[in-house]
Amino acid sequence: MKFFKPLSLGIIALTSVMYACGGGGGEGTEASKETTSSLPQNQPQQSLEQRYGDDPDYIAGLALIKESDCPSCHMAERRIVGPSYNEVAEKYENTSENVNLLASRVIKGTVGEWGNVPMPAHPSLSEEDAQQMVRYVLLLRK
Ligand code: HEC
Repeated sequence: MKFFKPLSLGIIALTSVMYACGGGGGEGTEASKETTSSLPQNQPQQSLEQRYGDDPDYIAGLALIKESDCPSCHMAERRIVGPSYNEVAEKYENTSENVNLLASRVIKGTVGEWGNVPMPAHPSLSEEDAQQMVRYVLLLRK
């Protein structure tokens, strides 16, 4: 009985590692519920869609971003040409000052905040649309 406990703990640790690796893309419905109930200290791995999908800023901002060229340089959770939206949201609090600041940088173009690759200007974007996009970006804190 004495050595049984560490063994079963080991199995729980192992299965949760397996879920952590495999759970990236899929929704892992049944299995992830089971894992989270046995590991209450861990936040369930929810997709951004699951966490923010009902927020009007999420819906409107994402729709505008999809129509624009942003996805060719930005992803929500991975840095490609530009910083991930996650990183931007970590850096700037979701305040109206920051929304205005970042929206004007999207319109005018910017460089030097994240490195020396510049973001080109988007002169055809309206202030409102740029602000709506930024409100979406700043929602995506990890
Ligand atoms: C050609 C690639 C490219 C495109 C297209 C692009 N970005 Fe960027 N973006 C970047 C780069 C590179 C940076 C980092 C600039 C810097 O270091 O200051 C950046 C930075 C940003 C930032 C953070 C600015 C800061 O001051 O920290 C936001 C917000 C942003 N982009 C939003 C957008 C949105 C919204 C769109 C679509 C309208 C867009 N980007 C299109 C490359 C791009």
